[in-house]
Amino acid sequence: MSTPLLELDHVTKRFGRVVIAEDLSFAVGAGDTVGIVGPNGAGKTSLFGLISGDLSPGSGQVRFAGRTITRLDPASRCRLGIGRTYQVPRPFADMTVFENVLVAAQQGARLRRQASYQAAAEALYRTGIAAEANIPAARLGLLQRKRLEIARALATRPSLLLLDEVAGGLTDPEVAVLVEVIRGINAEGIAVIWIEHVVRALTALVSRLTCLSGGAFIGDGDPASVLANPRVREVYLGSEVTASTLGLDDDAPGAPGAQGASEVSGGTA
Ligand SMILES: Nc1ncnc2c1ncn2[C@@H]1O[C@H](COP(=O)(O)OP(=O)(O)OP(=O)(O)O)[C@@H](O)[C@H]1O
Ligand SMILES: [Mg+2]
Repeated sequence: MSTPLLELDHVTKRFGRVVIAEDLSFAVGAGDTVGIVGPNGAGKTSLFGLISGDLSPGSGQVRFAGRTITRLDPASRCRLGIGRTYQVPRPFADMTVFENVLVAAQQGARLRRQASYQAAAEALYRTGIAAEANIPAARLGLLQRKRLEIARALATRPSLLLLDEVAGGLTDPEVAVLVEVIRGINAEGIAVIWIEHVVRALTALVSRLTCLSGGAFIGDGDPASVLANPRVREVYLGSEVTASTLGLDDDAPGAPGAQGASEVSGGTA
């Protein structure tokens, strides 16, 4: 990896006695795709909070695009190029889909007038919800709400996109559609870190997989070897999982190029 886009350097965070990040060091390059799995309560969403600025570390440093951002607030980090989705989407329910994305372009990327309209429209097309642009966000179904969540993050013009369980609750064909949307985003050079319990969706996209447990990485590397790691299987996957059920076989559902992706995990969305 050349100079990393994102670096966590010995980051530690505790809530009382609960350790949510234990001396985490982690680097992601421009345009990389990294998946994060791990049991419920492992600290996955908290890791995103430490990257996006919703949480401050007790110790350690966070660097992004060559500068130290450890104490920067979330809005400033967003303007530097860190976009994120939230595990529980909370769009402005009474505003239209377009208005929701426009707010992201104006507040997140500080775009004005025509540039903000253009960024919002682009984000809607890239995520496949342009047809719903003028309906209130409250009326969207689950897949469309997830797409809106990604569109809002995209409209902030990120170079790093953090996706928190955007596939949870979707049907297999819907997950396959979402994987293609994310693949298209990544193809434009945007790095993606994706937390997901739908392991087949991750293995269809990412070139690197990490597993968090108890606020620490217990696996990090190519997806096949991380999923074969006995510790990862013990804390997360259970013992019944095979390469085929994880979509690592070429013709398995959810494998790259195949349709569908099932949830195979010890956790729930
Ligand atoms: N603001 C907070 N105050 C206290 N404890 C918290 C806070 N946020 C998270 N935690 C605790 O930190 C731990 C990690 O939570 P986190 O949400 O990061 O887990 P996760 O890996 O994203 O889990 P899930 O798969 O359920 O989404 C949990 O034990 C959680 O209860
Ligand atoms: Mg979470």
